[in-house]
Amino acid sequence: MGLGVVGKAFLRLLMVEREDLYRKYGLDPSVVAVADSKTAAYNPLGLNIERLLEHKERVGSLEGYPDQIDLDTKSLIKEVEAEVLVEITPSNLTTGEPGLSHIKGALISGKHVITANKGPLAIEMPALVELFDHKGLRILFSGTVGGGTPFLKFVKKCLSGERIVSIRGVLNGTTNYILNRMEHGISFQDALKEAQEKGYAEADPTNDVDGWDSAAKLVILSNWAMDSGVTMSDVTVKGIRDVVLHRDLLKEGKTIRLIATSDDEGLRVQPEVLPRNDPLVVPDALNAVSFTAEISGRHTLVGKGAGGKETAAALIRDLVELKMYMRGGVGLC
Ligand SMILES: NC(=O)c1ccc[n+]([C@@H]2O[C@H](COP(=O)([O-])OP(=O)(O)OC[C@H]3O[C@@H](n4cnc5c(N)ncnc54)[C@H](OP(=O)(O)O)[C@@H]3O)[C@@H](O)[C@H]2O)c1
Repeated sequence: MGLGVVGKAFLRLLMVEREDLYRKYGLDPSVVAVADSKTAAYNPLGLNIERLLEHKERVGSLEGYPDQIDLDTKSLIKEVEAEVLVEITPSNLTTGEPGLSHIKGALISGKHVITANKGPLAIEMPALVELFDHKGLRILFSGTVGGGTPFLKFVKKCLSGERIVSIRGVLNGTTNYILNRMEHGISFQDALKEAQEKGYAEADPTNDVDGWDSAAKLVILSNWAMDSGVTMSDVTVKGIRDVVLHRDLLKEGKTIRLIATSDDEGLRVQPEVLPRNDPLVVPDALNAVSFTAEISGRHTLVGKGAGGKETAAALIRDLVELKMYMRGGVGLC
């Protein structure tokens, strides 16, 4: 579901990595159905990905594609025989739709889900994870936080056996870019315009600059690493629109970053003053997350927080992990 920046990159990567995926993991996936916002294509023997992508690029939709079918997405998910749904439609942080219905449709029809869509998880993660578990299905979502940077896999696999006592992170690349530019004397509005021109910020930047995108990712991280059982309504959120970066602050070796925190005081997203040598003070549009584990202490991972092909790489990682799970093997780090 979804054939946009991430969807197209995912299909391209499947083609490029096909041989390796088969050689290393015995994974030889067949894409039997694809849908965008207008129409869908279906072939039980497997779609020709190259031809499908070429058609989507040329026409802008799947309209007129030889395998086009007239089925709405909910019926498609229900009726198509497949093992896994890859859900990569736009993230709606208020309703979770259309992703939430797609994911529930997969659950009802016995399909595993891999998604990079934050919306459904931000709104219903505790219930969704429990329902999938209950039905012996898996929902994997490593691309929802950090794009291709494996924040979720790192904390679960590499810090296993330890209690995570807090999470603090820069989870939104757009706001990080804006704050970095503001350090150079550029106004919030001009820095936002730059971020939009560079393709970091959406035309409507509300979710980024007002902190909602960070809040959604914090909900996912906190449930995943700390078993918090929270949703968006549990997060106190303040964005960066009112931030003023005084020269004096910079002279003192400090700066401001939009920090998402989950600890024993709850979940919050807010601009915070940090020393410039704090590991969370990262440049450009990077993301950074510090996990504090009870025994081994603070571990910080830094990486690109978004990007079509980077996020597609996270989807492929999840696909490999799902294959290992179905075989009864151990997941990858
Ligand atoms: N881009 C990134 O760097 C990044 C990083 C991490 C996570 N994500 C997440 O990944 C998801 C996809 O992002 P994206 O950048 O690929 O978005 P995008 O370029 O806007 O693509 C969204 C795709 O979903 C399709 N779509 C919209 N409504 C639909 C519906 N009701 N049924 C079926 N398909 C529908 C669109 O159809 P049309 O083609 O017809 O418009 C489009 O193909 C989002 O949830 C986003 O938050 C993105």
